[in-house]
Amino acid sequence: MAQNIPKEFIDNLLEKANIIDIIGSYIKLEKKGNDYWAKCPFHNEKTSSFSVSESKQFFHCFGCSAHGNAIGFVMEHANKTYPEAIETIANSLGIEIPRNKESAKQYEIKKIIQESLEDAKDLYVENLKNSKLAIAYLKSRNISGATAKLFGIGYAENDFQNLNKSLGRKFTESNLLDAGLIVKKDKNAYDKFRGRIMFPIFDTSGKVIAFGGRNIIEADKIDLAKYMNSPETVLFSKKKVLYNLNLARKDKSSKESIFIVEGYMDVVALHQAEIKNVVATLGTAVTKDNLEQCFKYTKEIICCFDGDKAGEKAAWKGVENIMSVIKDGDEINFVFLPENNDPDDIVNEGGKELWKELVQRKISIEDFIYKKFSRDSNLDTAAGKTQYLQKVDELLKPLKAPIMRKMLHESLNEKIGAKYLSQADNVSIKKKTKKNFTTSSPLQKAILILLHHPNLKIDQDLLQDNRISDNKGVILIKSILNKIENDESTNMGRIIESFREDEKTYRTLEKISMMEIMKLEWPEKEFNACLCLTIKNVLQEKLDNIDSMNLEEFSNLKKEMSEIQDKAKNF
Ligand code: UTP
Ligand code: MN
Repeated sequence: MAQNIPKEFIDNLLEKANIIDIIGSYIKLEKKGNDYWAKCPFHNEKTSSFSVSESKQFFHCFGCSAHGNAIGFVMEHANKTYPEAIETIANSLGIEIPRNKESAKQYEIKKIIQESLEDAKDLYVENLKNSKLAIAYLKSRNISGATAKLFGIGYAENDFQNLNKSLGRKFTESNLLDAGLIVKKDKNAYDKFRGRIMFPIFDTSGKVIAFGGRNIIEADKIDLAKYMNSPETVLFSKKKVLYNLNLARKDKSSKESIFIVEGYMDVVALHQAEIKNVVATLGTAVTKDNLEQCFKYTKEIICCFDGDKAGEKAAWKGVENIMSVIKDGDEINFVFLPENNDPDDIVNEGGKELWKELVQRKISIEDFIYKKFSRDSNLDTAAGKTQYLQKVDELLKPLKAPIMRKMLHESLNEKIGAKYLSQADNVSIKKKTKKNFTTSSPLQKAILILLHHPNLKIDQDLLQDNRISDNKGVILIKSILNKIENDESTNMGRIIESFREDEKTYRTLEKISMMEIMKLEWPEKEFNACLCLTIKNVLQEKLDNIDSMNLEEFSNLKKEMSEIQDKAKNF
């Protein structure tokens, strides 16, 4: 897909996008002086050494050397591929990516399906207004009209053709099948959701992508599932979506923490009790995608489970998933509610006060792991201890975050008094140490200056000088200038991006971009002086290798040398 996105589009996108807004939507940035600062999201630190430059449209961490432009940040931070990162940025700006014919068709289909889901939501909402039964049910569960409206809650009539007939006027049968709104059996198409309270599921931008429906008819009929979700469609994958993330992410409280609960009704009831930083999984254990999505908006995830066997089992599955996504600095805690109570029961019983009280009893991930493993193995015996340590080792294997891994290892081992290092930890932690790269040649310095000051005036005589015309650095400078082509609004982030497909050059530029640059009062003079120095170095090398008998060439070189030295004095 990357090949399908025109380069001009990407450059155009970076021209419109502001790295401050993009990074700022993931982490909190603070303006100090010309730049913005934050604690680095790529390594664990107490003081802020992560800086973002608006003028250069580039970020750089002085602690771990992470660096790049807006696309690079989104790729790294949100774990996205290159085209996905471009798409994310384009979406955030409301810009559509030009696509080839096939994907344009796909895009069109998605749009129609999405529209049918919006229409279905409107129909369900309309139905609710007219259904005494559904209204009474919501009342019995203490859901107010305002809350129902906010969540777009509706009702699917207990009828096989209600939606099929109504939406069939506007959409084809295949559209409605693709949307998961109807099902077909032996040539007969009929409504998928019947006699159910309908919860629209929105994507983070607030578009309906699926539904969850709670059965309220013949509730005692065991062959009817209490809840039913839309099937997997081009718009919806239940493992990837969290109910209510669209609203929760906008609530201030979500910056501190987000609760992940198990049911739609739990989210709705908590919201009504003014606990708004809550999302729900859709009938699955907490997945990698769920955690990654939440961490975009929050510092701490609190997973809430019913305090029974099933709850603990679900929590444990979550812990296993967590291991492969957790990053240093992430905080995940667990709340186990009293047996046979879910969050909805809790707020109905004791309001938000009771909820807050229970939440205070949250336990850390290491305590949870300890609790489970220490119960599974008999820690009074050596064999039991070994088994415990092996289990810890196994569990922590997929954990990539080095600091968290060490911490969990140490504290879990300490809990049983073991001085035990796992195999992985015998290898010392590869700490990203602070590196102060400096330029090692005048041309590297010239390129560094050019990246920081793309609009400087260059002495063309020097740049075009044929004594340095086959120098790789000079060739690179020329191709950078070629890309810039008098574009005054360009910046480091965009320049480096334009070389992404030329991998070697891209790496070179990335490396140079990380080098330290002095505050230059006269960047132009410095730049041109670097070119002079390069020419001088070429001459010096010739002088060093010249046949001492060749007096004519010797004197010519000497002359050239003094000329270039004179010229250098101007800079
Ligand atoms: P629960 O069975 O715990 O129900 O399902 P609940 O949330 O307390 O619902 P109420 O209070 O009885 O209305 C929790 C979640 O598990 C999924 C749904 O996502 C539900 O919100 N689930 C449950 C299903 O997908 N299918 C089912 O049949 C039951
Ligand atoms: Mn419930």
